[in-house]
Amino acid sequence: MLSVIRERRSIRQFQDKKVEPEKIKDIIDSALLAPSSKGNNPWQFVLVDDPDLLKKLSDAREYGSKFIAKAPLVVTILTDPRETSVWVEDSSIAASFIILAARHLNLGSCWVQIRDRFTSQNETSEEYVKGLLNIPKDLRVLCLIAIGYPDEVKPEKDIPLEKLKEVFLNRYGKNIVFNDNIR
Ligand SMILES: Cc1cc2nc3c(=O)[nH]c(=O)nc-3n(C[C@H](O)[C@H](O)[C@H](O)COP(=O)(O)O)c2cc1C
Repeated sequence: MLSVIRERRSIRQFQDKKVEPEKIKDIIDSALLAPSSKGNNPWQFVLVDDPDLLKKLSDAREYGSKFIAKAPLVVTILTDPRETSVWVEDSSIAASFIILAARHLNLGSCWVQIRDRFTSQNETSEEYVKGLLNIPKDLRVLCLIAIGYPDEVKPEKDIPLEKLKEVFLNRYGKNIVFNDNIR
């Protein structure tokens, strides 16, 4: 699990190769096993692998979504806010599980933010995605997760050690000390 976390990077260039159905199932199973507030499981998902739709989906944002046009698969993360008072959190953790499951399966992925973002025509990205994918108006769309076999290599990131100064034990301001030999 920790090596999956260490090796995960946002991947935006994909090989021209489909994701196998067994892997797609594992990814969706992982999302469905994510925690949710009160165990309400408020999420829904629209998977997109149709090249024409992917091309159109890539216009969901003025910037930041163009690479989707060449992704083999996109998972749209939806939540029904009538089933949860914390739809952003519930969606976020399901999306995180998808990203980590993808990495475990040797797939690359990248989060594309939809909530609170706009198309180049100044339509909300949410309305655009809902219109394109026939998503009922009451549902909310947090993000898209593009998934596929990586066609770019990214190194593991260094842990931002300066952030350790902002990790405290018991009281804000009292730094936690890690044994460097353990780290
Ligand atoms: C909430 C959130 C929104 C993001 N939105 C986008 C996006 O719209 N387009 C994109 O290409 N990457 C997006 N990313 C990916 C970030 O750019 C990426 O995680 C960050 O640059 C760190 O790189 P890494 O994922 O390789 O560690 C998003 C990530 C998060 C967590």
